Amino acid sequence: MKPRFKGKHFITLEDWSKDEIDVLLKVSNELKRQFYNNDITDYLKNKTSFLMFFEQSTRTRNSMEAGIAQLGGHANFLDTSTMQISHGESAKDTAVILSSYGHGIACRNCFWGVGNQYLNAMAKHATVPVMNLQDDLYHPMQGLADLMTIQEVFPEGKRIKVSIIWAYAKSHKKPISVPLTQILLFPRYAMDVTLAYPEGYDLPDWAITKARQNAEQGGGTFRITHDMAEAYQDADVVIPKNWGSWVTNQSSEVIDDLLESYKDWKCTEAMIALASPDVKYMHALPADRGNEVEDSVIDGPHSIVYQEAENRLHTAKAVMVMTMGDK
Ligand code: CP
Repeated sequence: MKPRFKGKHFITLEDWSKDEIDVLLKVSNELKRQFYNNDITDYLKNKTSFLMFFEQSTRTRNSMEAGIAQLGGHANFLDTSTMQISHGESAKDTAVILSSYGHGIACRNCFWGVGNQYLNAMAKHATVPVMNLQDDLYHPMQGLADLMTIQEVFPEGKRIKVSIIWAYAKSHKKPISVPLTQILLFPRYAMDVTLAYPEGYDLPDWAITKARQNAEQGGGTFRITHDMAEAYQDADVVIPKNWGSWVTNQSSEVIDDLLESYKDWKCTEAMIALASPDVKYMHALPADRGNEVEDSVIDGPHSIVYQEAENRLHTAKAVMVMTMGDK
């Protein structure tokens, strides 16, 4: 498999054309087939990727670590609290040095107002591809896996109505990067996207403007509602998920009066009944069970969350294969 995008950073899918994303999806599907077939896929033999995590992770860390092992390479997991970053070492110095030791740098940094800037600062100085494992604005690995899953589930050419719906949760103040990535990406694939949230949970204005532009260019549509039930109505895909009020309130406090006033924004069987009879329930996970969603929905017949999570492996491998090649 040729590293067609050798050296290209993967920080936001906005930097990738639709044709380039289609190649990533095609490679993801091929790698999935090969994984099921137990084929040898050592396309990154002897390559090293550095995985820097400022935050916790289950899917992202393990899809990257398992993924590069299956590609014949090796991942160095780096808890950034044990790196000299915690003593103030710069993004530039970290990126230059890790570039000289390996073939790819991947990083999760979700700190509000910091994460995306940190990724871009590393990308400016790295001589190997920098991969975003989620920052304060984007989660491109998740977006790619979500798109792959939707394409697997629905017949090609079907017009798909996707509703991205804010949901109550109290586990932690979550980044906006998942819904933001989805509202930018899905309209490019001619989907009819509804973003639903209660007052106070806005996404940035520039992202809304861009989502509308992407819809215009991609043949999709994009709209906003503050009526939860209306967002479920006739939807083919529902993605009820919490995100924090970062745009209007930068405090990292998890629970506040605003949050507590929207406890009823939960994905219930009654909400699912409003959607298309064949509706698919998606969630990037981890889900705040009992708050964001009822167990009977996430464990029920409409849920495709495990397929979505599995596709994180195949898409992560595709990104690494296509961007990390021989030095
Ligand atoms: N969806 C996702 O990014 O999961 P993790 O936080 O477990 O990596």
